[in-house]
Amino acid sequence: MINVLFAAKAERWPEYEAPLKAAFKAADLIVDLRMDFPPEEVDYIVYAPNSPVQDFSPYTRCKAVLNLWAGVENVVGNTTLTMPLARMVDPGMTQGMMEWVVGHVMRHHLGMDRNILGQNGDWTAHVPPLAQDRRVTILGLGELGSTCAQALAQLGFDVTGWSRSPKNLSDVTCLSGEAGLTEALSRADILVLLLPKTAATENLLNAERLARMPQGAMIVNPGRGPLIDDDALLAALDRGQIAHATLDVFRIEPLPLDHPYWAHPKVTVTPHIASETRVKTASQVIAENVQRGESGLPFLHLVDRSAGY
Ligand SMILES: NC(=O)c1ccc[n+]([C@@H]2O[C@H](COP(=O)([O-])OP(=O)(O)OC[C@H]3O[C@@H](n4cnc5c(N)ncnc54)[C@H](OP(=O)(O)O)[C@@H]3O)[C@@H](O)[C@H]2O)c1
Repeated sequence: MINVLFAAKAERWPEYEAPLKAAFKAADLIVDLRMDFPPEEVDYIVYAPNSPVQDFSPYTRCKAVLNLWAGVENVVGNTTLTMPLARMVDPGMTQGMMEWVVGHVMRHHLGMDRNILGQNGDWTAHVPPLAQDRRVTILGLGELGSTCAQALAQLGFDVTGWSRSPKNLSDVTCLSGEAGLTEALSRADILVLLLPKTAATENLLNAERLARMPQGAMIVNPGRGPLIDDDALLAALDRGQIAHATLDVFRIEPLPLDHPYWAHPKVTVTPHIASETRVKTASQVIAENVQRGESGLPFLHLVDRSAGY
């Protein structure tokens, strides 16, 4: 019997219990899945960083912590977590992100607000450029960024991506390094941020880098709030350097009601909904990793603790 602790907020248990049990069964794993175990009896922890479990030291036989979220910034620095930590790579979440990013890029590309918000008798025609004449840059070419980059490239956009290590993706100009970032920003008619929050990415989009973007560029941020220097973005919006920012993630969530983003005419705020972990597919990913652990195979999607993602 494998003991798996579900360590997330109690309200998630009814959603996850049956799909996780079904996924373990489908993987031929005999699992006792519960929200409560004596810590020393736990083999795996299915984990959400907002769970009450914050001290991992009593979980002496735990073989791995399997995160339900893609972002690990709230757990990666936990010094009591000495066992392997896997982040969530969920095909459902990836598809959801691709759909959200394509949708918001298309909104800006086509200038859809002009007609959706402007039902005022104005019959002026507005012809947007074709996708091949619009340059989209994606910062972060991981699971989510690379999928979004390729989907946008398939639609015909001129797509550039930037990552820490060099990459090779069909139909995407892949850049890395500081010089690569400068070039990627200079080509960003629309910029999509899909980097993790780490010490190296905090305030990455600062005043100096915003100034390297084309005049009138648009930003879509489903990555993490601290990637952007908020004051620098507000200043760039106010002087017209940046025409619009669609922001899904913030330093403080929920975004405080008095934050200038809420009322800013060039900002769209969405409440961290770009893409959720999808219970069914995520349960299959968790079961696969438990199966690998039990077979002595390396875990999938391990977090690089020193890089922070
Ligand atoms: N808003 C939402 O609903 C939502 C949902 C899910 C995820 N997210 C966010 O999306 C982020 C990305 O997820 P993912 O699954 O795609 O992560 P991932 O697979 O780990 O990819 C991260 C990408 O960022 C690059 N990167 C990291 N640090 C960098 C640095 N210092 N300089 C340049 N590139 C750097 C990585 O480069 P390498 O390829 O070289 O490693 C990689 O390409 C998550 O961390 C989370 O914050 C948001």
